Amino acid sequence: MTPKEPAPATRSTIVRRLSRSLDERAATRLHSVEDARRAARRRLPAVVYDYVEGAADDEVTMARNASACAGVTFRPRMAGGPFEPRLDTTVLGTRVALPVLLAPCGLVRLLHPDGPAGVARAAVGRGTVSVLSTVAGSPVEDVAAAAGVPMWFQLYAAGGLAEADALCGRALDAGVEVLVITVDTPALGNRTRDVRNGVAPPLRIDTRNAVPLGFQVLRRPLWAAQLAATGLRLSTRGAGPAGHGSGMLQAVASPFSWGDVAHLRARWPGSLVVKGILGGHDARRAIEVGADAVVVSNHGGRQLDGGPATLDVLPEVVDAAGRDAEVLVDGGIRRGSHVVAALALGARAVMVGRPYLYGLAAAGEDGVTRVLELLEWEMRRAMLLLGCRSVQDLGPSWLARAGDGIPQR
Ligand code: GLV
Repeated sequence: MTPKEPAPATRSTIVRRLSRSLDERAATRLHSVEDARRAARRRLPAVVYDYVEGAADDEVTMARNASACAGVTFRPRMAGGPFEPRLDTTVLGTRVALPVLLAPCGLVRLLHPDGPAGVARAAVGRGTVSVLSTVAGSPVEDVAAAAGVPMWFQLYAAGGLAEADALCGRALDAGVEVLVITVDTPALGNRTRDVRNGVAPPLRIDTRNAVPLGFQVLRRPLWAAQLAATGLRLSTRGAGPAGHGSGMLQAVASPFSWGDVAHLRARWPGSLVVKGILGGHDARRAIEVGADAVVVSNHGGRQLDGGPATLDVLPEVVDAAGRDAEVLVDGGIRRGSHVVAALALGARAVMVGRPYLYGLAAAGEDGVTRVLELLEWEMRRAMLLLGCRSVQDLGPSWLARAGDGIPQR
């Protein structure tokens, strides 16, 4: 009997190996989140990049997030001697190596074949947590299996409570421990870039836009080859069966009421997080219906344009929450020093969205890992230069306030 010949490498295996080594090298060239953004822009078709990068209307709120982060003034303390800053903490009882979680984001599967599973693996690899969005494009069971640890799941349910219950049931069966309900999306924000690209409602591909989109894809052969090699299959209903993905973000508009959140709280046995809080009043409402944590978020400026920067309302929410709930924040965080500032303002941890999406688009799972490493290194250095030994020691006294004699933003 002749020994079995190894199967010849198929074209798709060759593309996969090639793309893996390209990704490894691309990741080492990223030295900041901004580098990752530029690399993502070079790799992605414009329509996909614009979906990630764009925000609502005139993108005023997105710009406010960025300037709030850039406008923080630290009050460093010198000559603290040598020390190794501690970045580890707990979030809802889970120990994380650094207080940076990966926010739920739509259409992650479209950015790179590593998709949400690669994101989950990168988060676990750096000792933190990723949150799978209902509309990330991969079923919750697949991503939970890839993560291999209890993960978080973010819920949209355009179909109402019956759909929400069904999705929660599947998430629970898949081993999800923390449920995140996004309450700022009763309708999808007006994403001007998507409208201009002819894909509003988002990413609906039809006869009118197919030709220009086809040209955009032809200009990004690496992206197209990578996704083609792995067979792009977007799950249209988050935890649901794989499908073509057209019009998938229709599933986003989820007009949850506080009563709905209470209903889901009563059924969900794990921790519950309410995301999309921009004031003390809503933080209290969330806590009254049983939230264990709230996320101060304006959805990266993708929902109501003209709303506040998240860092500006964070202290009010922290005050309102008191000891009753943990407070997380996202929006505009691009540097380790921004994470330090958010923690000094009272956040337990931050979430980042676009930064890791840039990393994923630029270099797959390695790119996500790289972005997390960069944020960790930057954070460590900022803590050293600030003279602060541990994230537990951070508080408002490390920041300048009006009346301190230090110019404010
Ligand atoms: C989905 O959550 C989006 O903001 O597009």
